Amino acid sequence: MDEIQTQYQFMEEAAGYLRDIESEIGHSLRAIVVTFGCQMNERDSEKLRGILFRIGYGEAQSEEEADLIIYNTCTVRENADVRVFGRLGVLKSLKREKPHLIIGLCGCMMQDGETADLVKKKYPHVDLIFGTHNQHKLAEYLVKVFREKGSFEIWSESGGIYENLPVSRKYPFKSGLNIMYGCNNFCSYCIVPYVRGRERSRKLEDILREAEGLCADGVKEIMLLGQNVNSYGRGLDPPASFPELLGELQKIEGLKRIRFMSSHPKDLSDELMEAMAGNDKVCRHIHLAMQSGSTEILKKMNRHYSKDDYLEVIDKLRRAMPDIAITTDIIVGFPGETEEDVCQTIDAAERARFDGAFTFIYSKRHGTPAAKMQDDTPKEVIQERFDRVLSVVRKTAEEQAKRFEGAVLPVLVESVNRSDSKMVTGRIPQNHTVHLKGSADLIGNILNVRLDRSMGFYYIGSEA
Ligand code: SAM
Ligand code: SF4
Ligand code: F3S
Repeated sequence: MDEIQTQYQFMEEAAGYLRDIESEIGHSLRAIVVTFGCQMNERDSEKLRGILFRIGYGEAQSEEEADLIIYNTCTVRENADVRVFGRLGVLKSLKREKPHLIIGLCGCMMQDGETADLVKKKYPHVDLIFGTHNQHKLAEYLVKVFREKGSFEIWSESGGIYENLPVSRKYPFKSGLNIMYGCNNFCSYCIVPYVRGRERSRKLEDILREAEGLCADGVKEIMLLGQNVNSYGRGLDPPASFPELLGELQKIEGLKRIRFMSSHPKDLSDELMEAMAGNDKVCRHIHLAMQSGSTEILKKMNRHYSKDDYLEVIDKLRRAMPDIAITTDIIVGFPGETEEDVCQTIDAAERARFDGAFTFIYSKRHGTPAAKMQDDTPKEVIQERFDRVLSVVRKTAEEQAKRFEGAVLPVLVESVNRSDSKMVTGRIPQNHTVHLKGSADLIGNILNVRLDRSMGFYYIGSEA
């Protein structure tokens, strides 16, 4: 029996335990999966929910009403860890009130052995701990918890690729789709390669089959997920490449929009730019992390490009696709970063004219090469530099957004507006948010919308 069949059997077995507990406590059981971190984790959570719903859990709307709580954790920066620890403390009293409550922790933070040990010691009310490589075994682990009525931890170092497990999507009209897992880049500050393992690409045919299935189920927009999608296909037999994948996806009839993230500047080839420019389904948006504008710091970060290389890629992208929106990630406060390095970053940001940027203060992650680098820059100095970088990227983003004011662009409507129920909210291909008059029946439709007013980071529009 293969691994997937085995897991379906465990789902059956877990369903049996569930029925027993339900008749004992007199109501049906509900689960909640809380996601921290990036889109990879969002997608993993959809898979965890798929398994839980298949077992028979209903969906809880809050931790208070749940009989099973899973935190799918992130550890990219220290504050991600802090957030999880804070919430774990609160769960202690919930467990006291509801002894049958199962609490599970999984994801990147749990893939770090030291952190998992700390959780076991300090938070004995956690029943189940597993990492990133074995999430497909959730049903098996739950059976173990039910059988042994005790807590346990499972950890594995290497990850495979498992196809055809149940998934419960958050949105009917759009979906993430993993094309690869892990990362081989080892940027010196980053924990991801350690907690997500080595880069491995899914077979082209498996991705296409999944994409076709999603579109047959009403999905119009697919976000291809990987830590460095440009290197998709490396080592595959038969060989495949990211430009080829984009070309194949374009042929799927129901698919209207293709997005992807993330791309690494060092691997953004001319061939890929051509493939993007010639593919009308590829959204005119790219997230291309710059991290720093200082060639010196980029070297220490192990990014394999210089400031000039980066700016040249930006130039080429804008020449190939003048209406493309480019967003980025920037880290301030990398060990040894000087005032001159920060000025280089500000200069690069001004010249790149980013349409949006996530700016982060460097966070030391143990086990990474940067954690051993000395730095005595005072916190206040780093904060002041961070604020300067932030104000520059905010200003350029606002200016950039003005260029679409008055244009008519297709908007995929995603939700009813949170503060005004007579309005809906959607996105243009460039990924900016647009609010316009409308009601819930528009959700999932692509409308032509005039962007009447740019509000800096979003637009107010009207159906054209
Ligand atoms: N693979 C993606 C890429 O290279 O574009 C990035 C994925 S990472 C989850 C998202 C962002 O977190 C990175 O681009 C980086 O800016 C930031 N990041 C990663 N490690 C960090 C650290 N130790 N401190 C601060 N920011 C960090
Ligand atoms: Fe981290 Fe670099 Fe890999 Fe992105 S490419 S996940 S920043 S190691
Ligand atoms: Fe994503 Fe955080 Fe893991 S950013 S890959 S969930 S460490």
